[in-house]
Amino acid sequence: MPERAIGVFDSGVGGLTVLKEIQRLLPSEDLLYLGDTARVPYGTKSPATVRRYAQEAAAFLTRRKVKMLVVACNTASSVALLELENHYNLPVIGVIEPGAKRAVSVTRTGRIGVIGTEGTVKSGAYTLAIKKLAPDADVVALPCPLFVPLVEEGWLEHPVTRLTAEEYLGPLRHHGIDTLVLGCTHYPLLKNVLQQVLGPEVILIDSAEETAFAVAERLQRQRCVRDAAAAQPPQFFVTDVPERFQRVGGEFLGRPLPKVEQVCLD
Ligand code: DGL
Repeated sequence: MPERAIGVFDSGVGGLTVLKEIQRLLPSEDLLYLGDTARVPYGTKSPATVRRYAQEAAAFLTRRKVKMLVVACNTASSVALLELENHYNLPVIGVIEPGAKRAVSVTRTGRIGVIGTEGTVKSGAYTLAIKKLAPDADVVALPCPLFVPLVEEGWLEHPVTRLTAEEYLGPLRHHGIDTLVLGCTHYPLLKNVLQQVLGPEVILIDSAEETAFAVAERLQRQRCVRDAAAAQPPQFFVTDVPERFQRVGGEFLGRPLPKVEQVCLD
């Protein structure tokens, strides 16, 4: 079992922020990554549709005998995690609980902001996870749908991105949050702009980083850590032609992506 790879999936390229953190923390683990690029975005789709997509992605990875499933997509984690946990006899790690846990542990005032896709915010999953740990927390969750295309355009420090952030984050600033959960795969790339708009006193929670810690913790608990000096390079699969994933993904990872294979999920 420890020798098997970890399977990571996302609606597209964004989950590479999670893959990158897992690689950094667990360099000896083999990784399979599936980006459902033919059906991205998940953030605007109904929970029923996202659940179906998530089931198909998970089935693809489990056919390849992974030892663990990581649902890197916040939208999929927020509506499909429980179903996947019940369906598969292997650890399934989502991004919501690790981010919520960290937010609760660092907030001083209990005023926590959450930003994500429409689907993630509508699901209430972050609010629920935070309230479960800290029932008195005052949580404000807001969708920021324009951030995804801005990041994929590479406009990480662009004036348009700054203006958009000011518009979206205004209500959170007024609410006096002291902690903000970046509840979408793409948002860690906007940390600089978000921090500038919110001010240095607001703590940003990177769900990707927290998820990597959760993966490491679970592997250790289950004695499933791979005992090897170095991993094979990750294998990348996508459901549409690979060119765009390869180009934008290289920006996300900060290095060129090796071979990316197009697959069909059914
Ligand atoms: N990966 C998605 C998430 O973290 C963002 C992109 C999408 O809407 O599919 O929610």
